[in-house]
Amino acid sequence: IYVPDTEKEPRYLRGKVASRSEFCVPLMVRGEVLGALNAEKEEVNGFSETDRELVESMAAIAAIALENAIQFERERKMLEQLKLINDLALRTAALRTPEELYRGVVELIAQRFGYHSVGLFTVEGEEVVLRAIAGDLAGSVHPGFRQSIDTGILGHVVRTKRTYVAPDVTKDPYFVPGYKVEKTLSELCVPIKARDQVIGLLDIQSREPNAFGEADVDAAEAISRWISVELEKAKLYAQLKRALENTAATLARVVEIRDPYTAGHQRRVAALSAAIAEEMGLPPERKEAVRLAALLHDLGKIAVPAEVLNKPGRLEELEMRFVRKHPWAGFEVLKDIPFPYPVADIVLQHHERLDGSGYPRGLKGEEIMLEARILAVADVVEAMCSHRPYRPPHRLEEVLAELERGKGRLYDPRVVEACLKLFREKGFRFPSPSSP
Ligand SMILES: [Fe+2]
Repeated sequence: IYVPDTEKEPRYLRGKVASRSEFCVPLMVRGEVLGALNAEKEEVNGFSETDRELVESMAAIAAIALENAIQFERERKMLEQLKLINDLALRTAALRTPEELYRGVVELIAQRFGYHSVGLFTVEGEEVVLRAIAGDLAGSVHPGFRQSIDTGILGHVVRTKRTYVAPDVTKDPYFVPGYKVEKTLSELCVPIKARDQVIGLLDIQSREPNAFGEADVDAAEAISRWISVELEKAKLYAQLKRALENTAATLARVVEIRDPYTAGHQRRVAALSAAIAEEMGLPPERKEAVRLAALLHDLGKIAVPAEVLNKPGRLEELEMRFVRKHPWAGFEVLKDIPFPYPVADIVLQHHERLDGSGYPRGLKGEEIMLEARILAVADVVEAMCSHRPYRPPHRLEEVLAELERGKGRLYDPRVVEACLKLFREKGFRFPSPSSP
């Protein structure tokens, strides 16, 4: 638009410095006006044709530069999104439970984008429930916070199944001041869907008005799709884990029916093994492996004749040979069950001793898995502490002294230390024999 004389132009708005002529050129990018280049002069008829051509060509150059910058920004954001998803996948690869996943996701998003608050909700019946939160809000709203799906932006997204952006929450028709702190000005809420059902929400808040652009929405939606896939995987994993736990419980019952004494022994050894693993700071996966293996470690005794198993006093050489096969028998039963941990191998090694004097293979030192070295100690301690048909139980201090004598020779010194600490300092006691 060229205005040769502003006083004759009804659309002219007088600013602080009055201009008499003005020339304004739009900055066009692919047919869209993204800005304007405006020139003003104090005199009437201030812009010659040459002047106007000059301003127009400058505007064209500015538009190209603007387009490049926008394109560059778009590509940069896209790359960032890909990197984020990749990071999420890497960081959460080892996380097995949905809770761990939720926490990992919100923390990474908050950290990466510097958002004021990132929350992850699941839909539970008629409510949305906060499962993990990161950022400023984390101090004031805690996982477990609930809100009805009839209310707020969160509810609106559940009902419409669509992403919602509130550029200014103070003017938003859906906004209710439940889940937010005073400083939140804009909000982006994305549904997490599984088979077209909204199962959760990813809610991001910012202190800035208008904080969420197309790229943010794209990124949040990509993350939401990824979460949905991961949740499905976590659900399947939990199912598998339950199935395996049932299998383990069933096998333990088989032992119980045949040999109630061994069943009780396994439960108590499992309690001590798990406590030692905990004391030694083993990661959760390995702790669980120790516990499960302990719960089944004498399963192979079902292959040992009952009269040998229950015989009071010392066993003959032939009988001993039977007994010594039980780790193999247990291994044979367990080896094909797809436990996520090497339960069968731990069971196979639970009678091995550090100096190679154990059975069935006479493994030494580090050849024996740490989990099996833990189980070995727990097994011996429990056996000595409990009553046998042919002898009364040993006193605890006697048992611990015996353990100390074998430390470094028969038993892993670190395991022995952890076990002694549990009994002497932390008051560990076996669950009572009658408890299930
Ligand atoms: Fe055993």
